[in-house]
Amino acid sequence: MAPCITSSLILAGFAVGIITTGVVGVVTIIAIYKCAKLCVKTDLQRGGGSRDREAEASMTRDGERGSTDDAGDDVEMGSMSCFFEDILKERPVRFSSQQLRAFTRNYAHRVGSGGFGVVYKGRFPNGAAVAVKVLNSTMGKRAEEQFMAEVGTIGRTYHINLVRLYGFCFDGTVKALVYEYTENGSLDGYLFDPPPDKTVGYGKLYEIAVGTAKALRYLHEECAQRIIHYDIKPENVLLGAGLAPKVSDFGLARLCDREDTHLTITGARGTPGYAAPELWMPLPVTHKCDVYSYGMLLFETLGRRRNLELGLHARESQEWYPRWVWHRFEAGDTDALVARAAATGDKKDREAAERVCKVALWCVQYRPEDRPSMGSVVRMLEGEDQIAAPRNPFAHLAPYNSTATAGSYGSSDHLLSAR
Ligand SMILES: Nc1ncnc2c1ncn2[C@@H]1O[C@H](COP(=O)(O)OP(=O)(O)O)[C@@H](O)[C@H]1O
Ligand SMILES: [Mg+2]
Repeated sequence: MAPCITSSLILAGFAVGIITTGVVGVVTIIAIYKCAKLCVKTDLQRGGGSRDREAEASMTRDGERGSTDDAGDDVEMGSMSCFFEDILKERPVRFSSQQLRAFTRNYAHRVGSGGFGVVYKGRFPNGAAVAVKVLNSTMGKRAEEQFMAEVGTIGRTYHINLVRLYGFCFDGTVKALVYEYTENGSLDGYLFDPPPDKTVGYGKLYEIAVGTAKALRYLHEECAQRIIHYDIKPENVLLGAGLAPKVSDFGLARLCDREDTHLTITGARGTPGYAAPELWMPLPVTHKCDVYSYGMLLFETLGRRRNLELGLHARESQEWYPRWVWHRFEAGDTDALVARAAATGDKKDREAAERVCKVALWCVQYRPEDRPSMGSVVRMLEGEDQIAAPRNPFAHLAPYNSTATAGSYGSSDHLLSAR
């Protein structure tokens, strides 16, 4: 009897094992089938050719969610997105033009415009504020692959003082970039005759200047592929929470076909007043052109004014401020130099302003090789490195008019004659 019972038990065990294996197998097959169906469906919904799919595979973090407008699929893709987020992280998301329209409520809130296009405020479905920069027609010539490559470079930059690129749109009608939105506008609003609610102490302006220098040091010296900004100016230093500086518009010169352009007098690169001399002449251009523009920004931080103020103005005698600064510096008149920056008489502010003044004069040296690296700029600003006495950066300009009124050290004529 005992062997009979034993064999029955063994048989029953076999049966249960077979049934269990069968059930697990069927469930697995169904799961694989569902997954495959989902992938094919998603691919078809993208509607692009193989080129599109390749680009997305390399560019998107959760492009699946981004490339469909179907709410049901959004839910279904939610968990997949997390998965892709993990394996393809640190890449910008590709959005459709319909999605951008939804984020911006049909481009209802225009923030401003610049050389590359128009900026709109928008919101992601999760409520996060975004800035959508719709690029203008110079983008037309750019091939999709090149656009992807450049966006990939911008998207792989991570620094606390750089504005984050969340994603992009590239289709037949819309080429756009989607950035984090910074609530406090840009540095120009705090420098040039600010309203009372935007008047800040010099310590804060100094912090913003140092943060901006760190962003440039990262772009020039620390990120995987060196990026020359080409357009450093207060308008491109955005201010986030607590007025934390966030440099914007880096990488745009390449994206918009401008890097290889030979400059004409109309100026295809940079902004007049900030662009280094070599950008206006047929001379080789290096990352030192950013150092020059940064120096011009430092002068404006020091004086809390535009470097060039034309017309009959109370400050007419200091028309071109950088040259006025040089002559005051040469004369050893430090008090005049730091007067506007450190008006409160705070010793720390005064010392910071003196450093800013010297570093600015080094940054705008005529010969690129005489300008410091951004790494060196940061060290000098923070007081880690001694700052040698700068040489005259404006020796190449026409001599200043000695018959002019006392204190008249710069003029737009001198500036223009140098161009
Ligand atoms: N990410 C952003 N968040 C908030 N405001 C922005 C953002 N990007 C740009 N802006 C604002 O939009 C305006 C236009 O920007 P832009 O097109 O880059 O021109 P520019 O830099 O020449 O002023 C600027 O006033 C800037 O302050
Ligand atoms: Mg800008």
